[in-house]
This record gives sequence, structure tokens and C-alpha cells, in this order.
Amino acid sequence: MRKVNLAVVGATGMVGRTFLKVLEERNLPIDNFYVMASARSAGSKLTFMGKEYTVEELTEHSFDKPIDIALFSAGGSTSAKFAPIAAEHGCIVVDNSAQWRQDPKVPLVVPEVNPEDIKWNSGIIANPNCSTIQAMVVLKPLDDKYKIKRVVYSTYQAVSGAGVSGWKDLENGLKGEAPKKFPHPIANNCLPHIDVFMDNGYTKEEMKMIWETRKILHHPDMRVTATTVRVPVFNSHSESINVEFENPVDINEVKELLSKAPGVVVKDNPANNEYPLAIEAAGKDEVFVGRIRRDESVENGINIWVVADNIRKGAATNAVQIAELIVNSLN
Ligand code: A2P
Repeated sequence: MRKVNLAVVGATGMVGRTFLKVLEERNLPIDNFYVMASARSAGSKLTFMGKEYTVEELTEHSFDKPIDIALFSAGGSTSAKFAPIAAEHGCIVVDNSAQWRQDPKVPLVVPEVNPEDIKWNSGIIANPNCSTIQAMVVLKPLDDKYKIKRVVYSTYQAVSGAGVSGWKDLENGLKGEAPKKFPHPIANNCLPHIDVFMDNGYTKEEMKMIWETRKILHHPDMRVTATTVRVPVFNSHSESINVEFENPVDINEVKELLSKAPGVVVKDNPANNEYPLAIEAAGKDEVFVGRIRRDESVENGINIWVVADNIRKGAATNAVQIAELIVNSLN
């Protein structure tokens, strides 16, 4: 495998630091390595593969040097400005923000689901929303087998998804302090409000799940709805997913299909109180699924409970897997 020059943009953030951890674990062949963030943390040090790197301020000139791949997780406005600059310099950007996900020229990729889509990139590949990624890994094999007619998502999302400031709101909120990031206390509370509200009454997080599901599964007209909720959990998103299919569905076959699906672990033994849990998924790369049962209110429907580490598979690991696909395509 050819060695690549790789940059992490937003390296000091929650996802950025996990990029470094996952890159170390997965041993991507790296030649020159760069860590970039805002002027606020320029000059600070980060350790990668036992070596210390100085954080550079991200500027228009950051990509003047040869960089093959840049993993971005520094917010939408940073991606809007700097991803095109990187791409113009021949770098392939894997962008974790929502900025480019709906752009028809930008592939939106979950490596277990639609790896072939990286081929038509023109310098930017979007990493999907954390809640979407974990759902896709589970829904893809079911769509292939039974053809999805409708999906209803209800999410229980961890504060780590809101970055360092979200994490601090829960930590400080548990000590009685007022929130700074969220509009209401998150400690001992559930907020049916993630990202901004849109004209149709949905939040943008909900619309992201809807748009992204259609794009990744290549079903532009799929009926999808979502309610996304922030809960007082530090890490790992949980999701209740109700799915209706075109074709008859057999629950034992669903369990069998999911147990063979790449990146999925079935944990479904209610008799022993075994089902996916946020505290057990944290730190892992797999997507855990359980509570697999028929939706008895419709002809061909199921309910499932899906849990994954939103910072790892929901962000950093998925992006590094995309980087691996890019490296393989360069050889
Ligand atoms: P910095 O630490 O310098 O603020 P999180 O979402 O976990 O809070 O992380 C956000 C990441 O994005 C951080 O690494 C942050 O760097 C980086 N970032 C935010 N704004 C910019 C910007 N304008 N240019 C480059 N990096 C940015």
C-alpha cells in the first residue's frame, strides 16, 4: 500500500482527537502527517504514533504542500471555505461536517454500504451524520433483501455529538451548573432539539437523517421520518428504528442476515437482559443491534434497537475507513 501525506483538520476537537487514535489503531500507511486547527490552538502539541506534532493554524496556504488526504472535522463553515481549497490542490478531503453532504457532486459514503461511490468524487467525499451512519450499516442488508418502504427513526443521542462544549454541559450540569451549549439543561433531561429548527418544523438533524438515508441507499423517494433527541449520555447514540418493507419479512432470517452483515453485531437475548447498550458500545467500532421483533401493527414491518459509538463509527472510524478506500484506489 502506497504511503500518503495526511492532514487532520480540527485535530484538537472531539472527533479530531479520535481521528488520531483510529489512524494509529488501523495503521494507515502515512508518510508526512499534519495536524491543523484554528489560531486558538496553533502551536499546541499532539502526539501521534509516539511522535509529537505541532498544531498548525488552518489557512489558505495550508495545502500548498503536497497532501494526499485531509480528514476534516472543524465545523461546516470551515469546510465550506477550506475543503475546496484543499481539493483544488489535488488533496482528497473526507469531510465530517454537513456542509457538502447534499451536494450532487459529492459522494456520501459508509464503507460497508456504498464503497463504490468514492469513485466519482471530485476532491471531496462527505462523511455522513453520526446517527445516519449507524442506521445505514444495519438497514442496507435488509433493504437488499426485502426492499424498504418506510423508515421511522427515534434517536437517543449522546452529548459527545455536540463536541467538547456539549460534553462539558452534561459534566457541569450534573454539578448543578447552567448550560452553555444547549438551550436547556441536559443533565436529568431530554432535549427534542438537535441542530437548528427548519421551516417544516423538523430539526436539521432530523432532515439530515432523512436526506442522507435516501442518498446513501440510492432511494431518492424513500419514505423516511425522524425525531432526534439529545439525552444525558456522554457517548454512543441509541436509536429505535421502525422499518416497513415491500416484501414479506421473516424475523429469524432478519437476525441471520444481520449477524452476517459487515460491521454489525447482533446482541439480542432478552431472556438474559441482553440488548445493545450505550456504555458497552462506547470505544468500539461495530454497530450493535437488538430487540429485533416484528411490528405487529403492519404486514411487513420490524422494530430494532441500534447502538454505536457516535465519535468512532459515527464519525472518525467511518472517515478513516473512507481514507483506506482512497489509499487502496491510489495503488
Ligand atoms: P480549536 O481547538 O483551535 O478551536 P469540537 O467540535 O470537538 O469542539 O472541535 C472543533 C474543532 O474544529 C477543533 O479542533 C477546533 O480547533 C476546530 N476549528 C474550529 N473552528 C476552526 C477554524 N475556523 N479553523 C480551523 N479549525 C477550526
